[in-house]
Amino acid sequence: MSLISVVGSCSIDFNSYSTRLPVLGETLIGTNFTQTFGGKGANQAYMCRLLQGESEEDNTAFIGCVGSDSWGKEIQQNFGSIGVDTKHLTVEGNKTGIALINIDKSGDNSIVIHTGANSLLSTKHLQEARETLLSSKVVVTQLEIDPLVALEAMKIGKEGGAFTILNPAPGLKNLPEGILEASSLVCPNETECEIISGIPVTDLESAKKSAQKIRQMGALNVVVTLGSKGCVLLDQNENFVHFPVKDKVVCKDSTGAGDSFVGALAYGISKGVDLTTSLKRAVTIATISVQNLGTQTSFPSRKIVEKYIEF
Ligand code: RIB
Ligand code: NA
Repeated sequence: MSLISVVGSCSIDFNSYSTRLPVLGETLIGTNFTQTFGGKGANQAYMCRLLQGESEEDNTAFIGCVGSDSWGKEIQQNFGSIGVDTKHLTVEGNKTGIALINIDKSGDNSIVIHTGANSLLSTKHLQEARETLLSSKVVVTQLEIDPLVALEAMKIGKEGGAFTILNPAPGLKNLPEGILEASSLVCPNETECEIISGIPVTDLESAKKSAQKIRQMGALNVVVTLGSKGCVLLDQNENFVHFPVKDKVVCKDSTGAGDSFVGALAYGISKGVDLTTSLKRAVTIATISVQNLGTQTSFPSRKIVEKYIEF
C-alpha cells in the first residue's frame, strides 16, 4: 500500500546563477553553477518523502522513466537515499531528462527542459503500476510527461478512491479533455492559471476569477500559488481563502518552490489533515525552500519543519 504515488518527470538540473538573466545575443559571466536532481515529479515525491516518517505505511512511490545513461542510475540512487519507492521507475531509451535553469540575483528563473526519457512514460507503465496507484491515498501528477499519461494516472487514482492532485506545469493551453474533472484539486501558479483560464492573474481578485473559470471548466478544488503572496484556495463549495506568507524572507532561488508546495500539500492530505491546515503548512515549507539554492537541496527535512509546524 502506498500512501502517495507521484507520476511524473525526473531530471538532472543544470543551475546557472548570474546577477541578471542574459538578454538575446548576450554572453554573461555567471556567479555560480551547480548540477542537482530535479524534475517536477521527482521534486514533489522527494518533498513528500522528506515529511514522512519511517513506518511502513508512510511511503511514496515514484512512477516515471529515466534513460540508460549514468544520470538515470544517479536519479535512482538519489531516490533510494531517502527511501522513495522506485519499483516503477523504468529505464526507457538512453537519454535522461535535463533542465537548463538560469537564476538571477532575486532568485527568479527561466527554464528550458529537454524531456528525454520523461516523454517515454506511457500508459503501459501505468498499467504495470496499477496496483500501486489503486492503493494510494493521494495520486499526484504534472505535465512534464505526456498529458494523456497524466490524465490516465488521475483516472486510475480516482478509480481507486484516491485524492488526485494535478499540478498543470509547465502550462498547457489545450489540456486533455477530462483531466480537470479527474482531479480532486488542480494547483497551477499564476502563469499556468492564466494559460488554462485565459484570465491573467495580477492580484487576489483576478486569481479568484481565474480559479472560478477553472472550476467552471471542470475542476473541483483550485489552489493558485502566488509566489511571495502565498496561495489562494477556491474550494468545491466556492469558498475563497487567501493563505499569505507570514514572514519576510530573502529569496535566493525560487526554483522548485511550487514543487515543495505540492509535495507538502499531498503529504498533509495523505495523512488526513484538513485542506486549510495542509495549505498553511505548504506555504510555510515553500517559503523555507526559496531561502536556499536548488530544488530538492533546498527542501526542508521533517526535523527542520517541526521548528515551524506542529504536526
Ligand atoms: O519545478 C522545478 C523543476 O522544473 C526543476 O527541477 C527542473 O527540472 C524543471 O523541470
Ligand atoms: Na530553492
